[in-house]
Amino acid sequence: MSTPHISAEPGDFAPAVLMPGDPKRAERIAHMLMPDAKMVTEVRGMMGFTGTYEGKPLSVMGSGMGQPSLTIYATELFKFYGVQRIIRVGTCGSISPLAQVGDTVVAMTAHTDSHINVARFPEISFAPCASWNLLSAAMRAVETLPEADRGRVHVGSVFSEDHFYFKTPGLLEKLTAYGTLGLEMETAALYGAAAEFGKEALTVLTVSDNLLDSSKDMTPEERETKFVNTLKLAAAAALS
Ligand code: HPA
Repeated sequence: MSTPHISAEPGDFAPAVLMPGDPKRAERIAHMLMPDAKMVTEVRGMMGFTGTYEGKPLSVMGSGMGQPSLTIYATELFKFYGVQRIIRVGTCGSISPLAQVGDTVVAMTAHTDSHINVARFPEISFAPCASWNLLSAAMRAVETLPEADRGRVHVGSVFSEDHFYFKTPGLLEKLTAYGTLGLEMETAALYGAAAEFGKEALTVLTVSDNLLDSSKDMTPEERETKFVNTLKLAAAAALS
């Protein structure tokens, strides 16, 4: 069986999928969590893996960058591969004095400048929303983090932007004033796709850079290693 962007057999994916943006990170997460991980798809280099984590089946697959790319993979997983829940594990840029580099941000909802959910609901302003089951499972898992890190998990809104480099003058300051925690590029679309198919979704992010103070940004190496807490919360939500 094949969909336009995934070449895998029915049953190759677990009901729960962890979804980083980068397929190489998907490969690293899969091998880190699951000694029995096997690659089940690699169309266009977008690798997906399935194995067993803490005795339960789990898949990890890349989404690519941005809302259109994530929407393609999430739609095919939900619609054709029986996937019930997707937990995005990514990075964000902080626009909040609360969220420091290395902290974890859990997205209850996502503002966006994308048209992706407007296309679903031209009449209203759709509110993309995390699954409560997954969000509450992730928050219960905060207790399993080292004590010093438990206060470094922040729950609130993020901004899923279409541009990484172009910033609308004045917009980020306003989003900060309205309590937005960070910038990323996928969550509004993920929550919209989960709603379309009656499935569950959650985004858990490591703060990789700080737009309020760029002197504290992470190096590319740190981005790879400082996401263990984020991954623990995401995995706990996946298996809940
Ligand atoms: N924009 C979007 N995504 C990001 C950013 C940003 O500034 N930083 C890390 N991920």
